[in-house]
Amino acid sequence: MAFRHRQEIDTLPSYKQGKPAPRVEGRRSFKISSNENPFNPLPSVKAAIADQALGVINRYPDMRGWSVVERLADETGVKVENIQLGCGSTEVITQLVNLVAGKGDEVVYPWRSFEAYPIIVTTAGATSIQVPLTAGGSHDIDAMIAAVNEHTRLVIVNNPNNPTSTSVSDGEVRRLLDSVPKDVLVLIDEAYVQFNTDACTCVGMDMFREYPNVVVAQTFSKAYGLAGLRIGYAIGPEDVIDGMRKVALPFGVSAAAQAAAVASLDAYDELADRVNTLIAERNRVVSRLREQGWVIPEPNANFFWLPLDGRTDRIARYFEDAGLAVRVFSGEGIRITIGEREANDLVIDVCARIHSIAYPEALSV
Ligand SMILES: Cc1ncc(COP(=O)(O)O)c(C=O)c1O
Repeated sequence: MAFRHRQEIDTLPSYKQGKPAPRVEGRRSFKISSNENPFNPLPSVKAAIADQALGVINRYPDMRGWSVVERLADETGVKVENIQLGCGSTEVITQLVNLVAGKGDEVVYPWRSFEAYPIIVTTAGATSIQVPLTAGGSHDIDAMIAAVNEHTRLVIVNNPNNPTSTSVSDGEVRRLLDSVPKDVLVLIDEAYVQFNTDACTCVGMDMFREYPNVVVAQTFSKAYGLAGLRIGYAIGPEDVIDGMRKVALPFGVSAAAQAAAVASLDAYDELADRVNTLIAERNRVVSRLREQGWVIPEPNANFFWLPLDGRTDRIARYFEDAGLAVRVFSGEGIRITIGEREANDLVIDVCARIHSIAYPEALSV
């Protein structure tokens, strides 16, 4: 049907959710396509949802999410006025873009990066300026600086970057912040911050404390394992947070998500053990694959990247056939989430079998 609408939406691809685990006869299969936490929810988190949220689902949730906001303020040492919640950090990023950028305005970000960025920017009516990553899958900070002009309203740093898992250094982000006009905001998207083991990494909260134009976005979806409940947050200057609140989806963050977030902060030691297990697994898998000869950018999230260019689609089907749903970026590469140990072992096995298909040139040397 022909209907009147915004033509720019037609240019957008729909967000592609990671595929579910494929069905393989007689064998266990795994979903390692969405950077989710493979561990089951903690009993204490489930109990908090049951005790505090299930009995009140006939009521709207606290729109400001005070229990979470006050707790985050205590933990980070910032004021409650500096914190805003959203349905996942996807929503706080959306709030920020809607606040600062509309028709004629530009948002600069690395590419390839988080797939929601182009959707959020175009939906706001603004223009994406996608700055290609370096050959090694890192942010090209000089090119990002060069892309900033009088139309720029926001620059996004994704640390570590999804899907390449590369970290952005403290020095690089300072260089960017020192170059960008002070009335242009810089968002540091740290969805995977708890997995970042790079000694030189930029720490978003340090930047927030030192620069007036920094907003940090973090989420309960990854390290805290609450992806299904949709809760994330931004920490930023008071007036920015105030503006974000005006454009937020009313009542977006459910009472269940708020109860689970506070219970997860209470259980952080237990969750940190899980994070450390996933980091150890990531390092184990990546070093085994490198021993096999795979080229992999240094990973700093709960996933890693196989840059395969034109070989991507050919390689992808071997994972699928083995019962592994991975994230395939046709013509670019494959992103693999660290999952259960059994899933990780299967990744190592599949990669050993297909190395010569991925790197046919290795056969001739
Ligand atoms: C880089 C990055 N930022 C933000 C998000 C948002 O996650 P959520 O909306 O679940 O908090 C994701 C999710 O995959 C991500 O990869």
